[in-house]
Amino acid sequence: MPATVVVGAQWGDEGKGKIANLLAQEADVVVRYQGGNNAGHTIVIGEETFALSLIPSGVIYPNVTPVIGNGCVVDPAVLLKEMEMLRSRGIDTSHLKLSTNAHLIMPYHRKLDAVRERYLGKQQIGTTKRGIGPAYLDKFARVGIRVQDLYDPGIFRDKLEAVVKETNKVLVKIYNQLAFDPEEIAVEYLGYAERLSAYVADTALFVWEAIRAGKNVIFEGAQGVMLDIDHGTYPFVTSSNPTSGGALTGVGVGPRDIDRVLGLTKAYVSRVGTGPFPTELSDDIGETMVRVGGEYGTVTGRRRRCGWLDSVALRYAVRVGGITELALMKLDVLSEFDTVRIATAYLSEGTTYPEFPRQQGVLYHCTPIYEDHPGWAVDISAVRNWDDLPATARTYVERVEQLAGVPIRLISVGPQRSATFEKP
Ligand code: IMP
Repeated sequence: MPATVVVGAQWGDEGKGKIANLLAQEADVVVRYQGGNNAGHTIVIGEETFALSLIPSGVIYPNVTPVIGNGCVVDPAVLLKEMEMLRSRGIDTSHLKLSTNAHLIMPYHRKLDAVRERYLGKQQIGTTKRGIGPAYLDKFARVGIRVQDLYDPGIFRDKLEAVVKETNKVLVKIYNQLAFDPEEIAVEYLGYAERLSAYVADTALFVWEAIRAGKNVIFEGAQGVMLDIDHGTYPFVTSSNPTSGGALTGVGVGPRDIDRVLGLTKAYVSRVGTGPFPTELSDDIGETMVRVGGEYGTVTGRRRRCGWLDSVALRYAVRVGGITELALMKLDVLSEFDTVRIATAYLSEGTTYPEFPRQQGVLYHCTPIYEDHPGWAVDISAVRNWDDLPATARTYVERVEQLAGVPIRLISVGPQRSATFEKP
């Protein structure tokens, strides 16, 4: 049975929820390995749409045990609300497992996220303001509070008091904000502890045993390789590792436990927040991509920036993301155009960059070198197999595959789970 990592190969929003959900039909375990409620996974099943930000999308199947791994940061109020929403729509959440080692997003993390962004002014990252960065910052500064701390109230209060004391100095003296009362936070969070206790587990052991027992395990990533803290367009990134390496540390398994890494790429590129984006289009074509592709964030509702597919960045994502195969998403959106373009290199100050440049400044000033392909200009949203795609669309897909360097296994032409087919 395969252990599959599902990774975004761009700047997030590639449709990981949809694909993880598709794979989850046959899965036993779906485990989120990084990020928190900055992610937005939209799942469309029949007439129903589910918007999830934290709980793995496999939750809707009774055959799946959904797991939130240690690499995630968890806002307990959001988690409880999401569970409540699912329960009210008839989805059983009783089998959810939450890692004892996941870090908690605290109220002061959300506050710091917002005020730091304001403070950065023109340099701001455009975060989701969910407290993600500050929660990871505390984790690495070793002053974070983990899920397991909730079950040792003495230790929890000690840690909280120490970190709030320091954080309050920063909030009050640097950012001119009100101080937090640690006791108020303690009461709130110990309340969550009670409500979450049934779900807290040694998830690393659980996933390890599932793999050993030959179960089908999906590792569901959030965001994408280009938002990876190490390999993305730093500092315009998220504060965790969406790459497949992050799946190992974020769950607690080894590289040999993974059989395949499925990378997701749209047939074009979108990005929210600030940061370099070589193929960005600020013309009618970009506008059409936003409109037809419905390119507004699930979490924050922000309009996404759009542009042509960038095979330089895609090849890079395949390499550093450990991607072994691809799913090509939203191919139907390109039906709008008579000509479809793919960037195959960047040109900057007389130098051609066929590979992702090591100096990030190049991304801001370069001109993409495009390859033009004839479009298909017919609606393909009802197509359900490879042979029924127009020849021009098949040529385009095969060219993307060639440029990416790994096979495209799946093609998606619409939001419904059924609007996906395999490429032979
Ligand atoms: P943060 O993850 O909230 O700290 O935001 C850091 C950057 O990652 C910002 O540019 C966000 O817009 C972006 N980001 C975070 N989560 C997602 C996501 O799920 N999809 C797309 N972009 C995201």
